[in-house]
Amino acid sequence: MLQVENLQVRYGAITALRDISLKVEEGELVALIGVNGAGKTTTISAIAGIVKAVNGSINFRGHSLIGKSPEVILRMGIAVVPERRHIFPSLTVEENLRLGAFSRHNRSEYRSDLDETFTLFPILKERFRQIGGTLSGGEQQQLAIARSLMAHPQLLMLDEPSLGLAPTLVDQIFTLIITLRSRGTTILLVEQNVERTLEIADRLYLLNTGRVEMEGSPEQLKSHAAIKDVYLGEGKAGGNQL
Ligand SMILES: Nc1ncnc2c1ncn2[C@@H]1O[C@H](COP(=O)(O)OP(=O)(O)OP(=O)(O)O)[C@@H](O)[C@H]1O
Ligand SMILES: [Mg+2]
Repeated sequence: MLQVENLQVRYGAITALRDISLKVEEGELVALIGVNGAGKTTTISAIAGIVKAVNGSINFRGHSLIGKSPEVILRMGIAVVPERRHIFPSLTVEENLRLGAFSRHNRSEYRSDLDETFTLFPILKERFRQIGGTLSGGEQQQLAIARSLMAHPQLLMLDEPSLGLAPTLVDQIFTLIITLRSRGTTILLVEQNVERTLEIADRLYLLNTGRVEMEGSPEQLKSHAAIKDVYLGEGKAGGNQL
C-alpha cells in the first residue's frame, strides 16, 4: 500500500533522514520506534507532504506522493495525527469534527460518521459543544484522532498518540488503536512506549540518526540487544523509555 525507498530529508544544513526505506501493507499496523531525533516525525511528515524529500521515492497505491501537497495527500487517503495533538482550540468539539469531515457530501453521511465517532469516543458525545482547548489532554488526543477518522483515511499515521497522557489514558489510546486496526484501518504508528508497541504492532522499524537500524516482527526486535538495553529495561541502561 505504502512504499518508501531511500528517503532523504534535510532541514537546511541538517540531514534529518539519510536513508529510510519502509513499507506498509494493507491492513497492517506498522510502528516506527527510535530515540529522540531519530527521524520518526520527519518520516511521517515527508509521507504527509509536510516536508520535502531531497531524494528517494514515496509511493501510495501505485501513485508517487513526491511533490504533492498535504491537502492532495489527505484526499488520496492518508491522514496524520501530528505530535502533540493538533486540534483547533477555539472551536467546539463539534466544529473540530466537522472540519475533519470535508469529504462527506451530505448530512446523513456526516450523521452516521458522528454516530460511529461517538461509539469509539463516548466522551466526545458528552463534550460535543465544549470548546476544544478546554478539553483535558487525553480528550484532546481523542478528538484529534476522531477528527482524522472523519476523513475515512485508508492509512492513518499517528505520531506519539500516548505522549504525555496518564497511564489509564495511555491504555485507552492503545485499546483504541487495536480497535481501529481490527476494523481494517491501516496504521503507521510512531511511539516511544516501545514495550506496549511491541505488543500490538505487526512489524516495526527501529530508526537511528535518519536510518533504519533494524526492521522486523516484534519477536525479532525483542531479541535485538539495543532494544533490550534501551527500551525494555533488561540491560544495564534500564528504563523502558527515552
Ligand atoms: N524544523 C526543523 N528544523 C531543523 N531541524 C529539524 C527540524 N525538525 C526536526 N529537525 C531535526 O531532524 C532530526 C529528526 O527529527 P524528528 O523530529 O524527525 O525526530 P523524532 O524521531 O520524531 O524525535 P522525537 O522522538 O523527539 O519526536 C533531529 O535531529 C531534529 O533536530
Ligand atoms: Mg517526533
